[in-house]
Amino acid sequence: MTAGDQKKYVGARVSRVDGPAKVRGEATFAAEHDLAGLLHAVLISAACAHGRVSRLDTAAARQVPGVLDVFSHQSDGWKMGKVGGYPRGPAGTSLLPFQGPEISYRGEPVALVVAQTLEAARHAALLVEIEYDRRPHHATLQAALDGPLLARKPLPPLGHSRGKPGRILKHAPHVIERTYDTPAQHHNPMEMHAVIADWDGDERVTIYEPTQWMQSAQGTLAAALGLEPEDVHVVSPFVGGGFGSKATSWPHLLVTALAARVLRRPVKLVLTRAQMFAAVGYRAATRSEYRAALDGPQISALELHAHTQTGPADLFPEQVGMIPKMLYATEHMEFKQTLVQTHAGPNIMMRAPGEASGSFGLEVLMDELAAETGLDPLEFRRRHHADTDPESGKPFSSKHLLECYDRAAGAFGWERRTPEPGSMKDGDTLIGWGMATAAYPVYASAATARARLHADGRVDVEAGSHDIGTGTYSILAQIAADALGTDLERVTVKLGDSRLPKNGYSGGSRTAGSVGSAVLAAAQGLRQELTDLAVNDPLSPLHGLAPIDIEVRGGALHAGTLRDPLTDILTRAGRDQHETYREIIPSGGGQKELDALRQGQDGMIEAVTDTHARYSFGAVFVEVRVDPDFMTPRVSRIVGAFDIGQVLNAKTAESQLIGGLIWGVSAALHEQGETDPATGLVLNANLADYHIPVNADIGEVRAIALNGHPDFHTSALGARGAGELGIVGTAAAIANAIHHATGKRIRSTPITVDKLLG
Ligand code: MOS
Repeated sequence: MTAGDQKKYVGARVSRVDGPAKVRGEATFAAEHDLAGLLHAVLISAACAHGRVSRLDTAAARQVPGVLDVFSHQSDGWKMGKVGGYPRGPAGTSLLPFQGPEISYRGEPVALVVAQTLEAARHAALLVEIEYDRRPHHATLQAALDGPLLARKPLPPLGHSRGKPGRILKHAPHVIERTYDTPAQHHNPMEMHAVIADWDGDERVTIYEPTQWMQSAQGTLAAALGLEPEDVHVVSPFVGGGFGSKATSWPHLLVTALAARVLRRPVKLVLTRAQMFAAVGYRAATRSEYRAALDGPQISALELHAHTQTGPADLFPEQVGMIPKMLYATEHMEFKQTLVQTHAGPNIMMRAPGEASGSFGLEVLMDELAAETGLDPLEFRRRHHADTDPESGKPFSSKHLLECYDRAAGAFGWERRTPEPGSMKDGDTLIGWGMATAAYPVYASAATARARLHADGRVDVEAGSHDIGTGTYSILAQIAADALGTDLERVTVKLGDSRLPKNGYSGGSRTAGSVGSAVLAAAQGLRQELTDLAVNDPLSPLHGLAPIDIEVRGGALHAGTLRDPLTDILTRAGRDQHETYREIIPSGGGQKELDALRQGQDGMIEAVTDTHARYSFGAVFVEVRVDPDFMTPRVSRIVGAFDIGQVLNAKTAESQLIGGLIWGVSAALHEQGETDPATGLVLNANLADYHIPVNADIGEVRAIALNGHPDFHTSALGARGAGELGIVGTAAAIANAIHHATGKRIRSTPITVDKLLG
């Protein structure tokens, strides 16, 4: 790149390039693919949390006109090969469906009805008679903590210890002990989980599935059904939200694919909303037990012992210690985590897994400690600002948290806050102001992309990655347009097909930085190769010039007053197109990550590398209004300021951050999976009873993305993720604001009226 290169789109407020197709209904989502001869499947999920199927009678169901088959553990030929579960493979699939009568978790697939029409399949599913031998179960974290039935596993790799926290806590004159709880939550993307499986013979299959990780579907099907991964073609161009639930493969994928192979017709399965509460993961419930020693206004030691829920298999840790370990400068710190197994099915990451639930305890504790010391909560946090990473001792790649505090506090008007709880009112309404810090690790992956210029000036960008509603199509088009000095309208981005260049899963807020950097490399490589063609072509006005002196803009290479359109370069070379493929190794990573990606693994590196600790940061300020009689809290105002490195698209970045902040409101006030202790079933498995905020629940929300701090230690673009950061800390800021309004300290989410009246 040279100084005169086009910088028209990266960072600008660009509307989604895929927006018009979605608004016009031209964007085809997985379940909308209308294949010839398509059959419809209905999944029957276990109405039992633990036990075995003692009777399964499909006779009546088979009598329903249009029913082709009812599959279950009684079917022949359904033995599947072993699929690795987390941490090596996808969570969720190590408990393979229909392999026997045992039921390990609520909602486990028990049978699949396939019919000519959806109506026939649904009717027949109601006629399948199933009885269970029930065994004792623990369907919730609390039940499992109260009883010794299943294992509790300490996870040494997740632990952390520095200094001598035990000794200091033992002798400290002032120790605060607090416990914080967060409930199970369910992802509930708008688009239902769905699969269409379409076989070509017995060995090759096309899968239409909304997924955050096409390679997971490929690898899972290949392992379970004995196929070559490249014979599993996954098509997933649009994903209507995933939030982690679509970042892995689930058993319903396998049964749909097998049914289609047996019946030799394409089969479609769309899960019901209720099934999505049981069959595609959830955010695990957590308990965080803290002890903090205060030495004047300083935390002298901090201890966190966490218990987090997990399923009967694929033990996925809800990483509640992630942020407490590193957020504040505490010399003495200990973190321990125990995984508590339940029969609630495999849990999985959900938007800021661990960071969101773990920051609730930490950031309410900080508010409580600030109150103990008589300091303003913001001032208390500033005094504990970590200049280097307390966990690893390494420098941060780039950290502008203090600027986040300043910007957000200034925009919010924090200096007008009076500290006494209940001291701010509007008429009778209690006003509360609270705040919290946000942080989210920077994950990065090896990534690959292809860029192609056509002789008519059109540009294709191809990456086997995903747009899960975040804006991937848009930012990749912006990056390529600037790198090739062309107009955004000329760039077509192709995503969501497993035959495109391989990429890791779209999660951990890393697609923008990782895949974006691969697209940048491919587009710059293409431009470099076109420049070489020009300077070596005697017919080019740029012949013989040094590439370093050549700029790209307006669809042409420029040097001073000399100009050579990119399309002319191709035409003179007698080519109708030129394409460039690039693989990138993530900053801080190595060949290992690239090799893993090539082998269908994820190719991800963690937040702390050899040289730097890499995190995004933010500060969230919240105003709540509480009716003094009914104690109903409302969030009237949120201002967040976020340090996400180079902003790629101001509009989609803010949209991501605002979405996170709103999810924080949801966590603070609304969301909770309600499990029936007797059956283990989720009782509020629908969007009427599982509360999430609607527009009337959300006041003003403002997300400020800091400008001018690209972080080149994390990616060639200088960009860090924005997708998950906004939710971190927000629930705690709301809890702290409610305390400021009412004097009531609620240490569990959601903060419902019963807790405030209690
Ligand atoms: Mo995200 S919870 O990493 O999809």
